[in-house]
Amino acid sequence: MSTPQTAILPEHMTACIVIEANAASTDMAKIKAACRQSLQRLQQHRALQPEAKLGMCIGFGDAVWQSLRQPGEGLDLKPFAPLGKGLAPATQHDIAIHIQSLSHGANMLLALAVLAAFGDSIRPADETHGFRLREERGYDGFVDGTENPEGADRCPIGIIAEPNLDAGGSYLLLQKYRHDLHKWAKITEEQQANVIGRSKHSNEELPSEQRLPTSHLGRVDLKENGQGLKIIRQSLPYGNASGEQGLMFIAYCARLRNIEQQLLSMFGELDGKTDLLLSKISTAISGSYYFVPSQERLADL
Ligand code: HEM
Ligand code: MG
Repeated sequence: MSTPQTAILPEHMTACIVIEANAASTDMAKIKAACRQSLQRLQQHRALQPEAKLGMCIGFGDAVWQSLRQPGEGLDLKPFAPLGKGLAPATQHDIAIHIQSLSHGANMLLALAVLAAFGDSIRPADETHGFRLREERGYDGFVDGTENPEGADRCPIGIIAEPNLDAGGSYLLLQKYRHDLHKWAKITEEQQANVIGRSKHSNEELPSEQRLPTSHLGRVDLKENGQGLKIIRQSLPYGNASGEQGLMFIAYCARLRNIEQQLLSMFGELDGKTDLLLSKISTAISGSYYFVPSQERLADL
């Protein structure tokens, strides 16, 4: 049996903590034990605050996964490589911890317990706290997640199916985008809608004859052999009022290819056209890929 980790499938969560870290040594014994313990901590914290609906995924970058994998597991995984002549930097790390729920406090208590379990076996390199703002809208004012797969559609898109050796697993992209909200405020709502490819207030898709090929939807709403390249997005806004604001982009998929094709398209690597988001509001400031094994594999690395 393979059970997916618990931050992939839940919908409409309102808070997340994302920690990216590097292994402190090549000896994986402590990290394996910490993964087992972290699953126990998750169960304990779920029991303490069931209403928070806590979920957590632990994933591994290619360098570490090479030493943990059994033959045939997570074969699509590779290190994140820079795209678009530096427009998308690579900041690949070894371990990703993604915690999400309906409660920032519950996330924080679990994150502390999980980091305590890892102790000095990892060195955290980045920690980002995400939160819902209003109506699932980003700082840009647009609803984010409308075309996210829902309900029973999510599992086949997000989770590697049986009978594969890595069934229950998933691929994860973490990519942080910093927004320039002053720049965004200088263009009209109509121009903003053309950047996204949907209307702002009513959140409707622009008619296809009006949709720019360089709009965000023009870049990421992709088909291959007549099939939509679908992914599951768990992104949330991050930041603080006096400093930086942006989107912590978080995506899971049973095939790394779906995520990668969308990135190649956004950053001009398919047809030379780049996503208008990148010139009108957002700068990618990190990027990394992880394999997220099933709970059973995580407990038995
Ligand atoms: C759709 C915002 C980055 C993949 C959307 C929508 C918004 C949005 C407002 C329309 C509503 C929806 O369906 O969710 C952003 C912002 C980003 C960002 C502000 C970064 C600054 C990305 C990245 C990817 C991506 C990096 C993929 C690697 C998608 C997909 C859709 C979507 C697949 C649905 C397309 C469809 O089928 O209609 N995004 N996004 N987005 N985005 Fe993004
Ligand atoms: Mg679509």
